[in-house]
Amino acid sequence: MNPLQIREVGLDAKEVAARRAVAEVRDGMIIGLGTGSTAAHAIRILGERIQAEGIRIQGVPTSARSKEQAEQLGIPLVDFAQVERVDMTIDGADEVDPNLHLIKGGGGALVQEKIVASATRDLLIICDPSKVKAQLGAFPLPIAIIPFGWQATLRKLRSFGYPLHLRTDSAGDPYRTDDRLYIVDMQCGEIPDPPALEQRIKSIIGVAEVGLFTGLTRRVIVGNSDGSTQILERP
Ligand code: 5RP
Repeated sequence: MNPLQIREVGLDAKEVAARRAVAEVRDGMIIGLGTGSTAAHAIRILGERIQAEGIRIQGVPTSARSKEQAEQLGIPLVDFAQVERVDMTIDGADEVDPNLHLIKGGGGALVQEKIVASATRDLLIICDPSKVKAQLGAFPLPIAIIPFGWQATLRKLRSFGYPLHLRTDSAGDPYRTDDRLYIVDMQCGEIPDPPALEQRIKSIIGVAEVGLFTGLTRRVIVGNSDGSTQILERP
């Protein structure tokens, strides 16, 4: 038996994808730091590269959680307000379709993630194979809404005809994003036209942002537990 094979089987597929993405980081880059368990691997590995190789980068965190992790690892950070463009953002996703449209926001950070992604030259999404879908929609679509008048916003969202759920925290209170917004999760089932749905939801007054990321992703790195990766590119 090949001892290499024994060592490789059973790797964390998210970490495999993260390692492959962080290998693309170069000296001098401004790097968007995503949020979630996959992005957390990338931030840790980036911290290791900074320690081991002394590469000089500046990170732009997409959440308080990612900021705290980066600070603990000594990753130099820059305020998003101070940068005009981000060279590369490495972030996770809840679902990815063949056009590289995404559902994001399972971790509640969709607003800052989307703002940073939209200012990024190379949005690199990292995930394990379970996130790759023929069509988006099985994962409940997160929608960030403004707390004022949230009941009225919810009524408008109900007109889409999908089951909705106001996200709550462990105390049963409405969950708050870093920007103090509420999140509604919409159980679409299937989303045949993600860009159209994104625009329809965004047009509702009271909606701050929707977790559909369309036309933003350059590449998706899918990690496998045998250590291999696949790169998905936009058709
Ligand atoms: C957070 C996100 C995450 O990227 C998404 O939820 C994936 O999370 P994980 O890497 O833990 O599977 O959008 O808002």
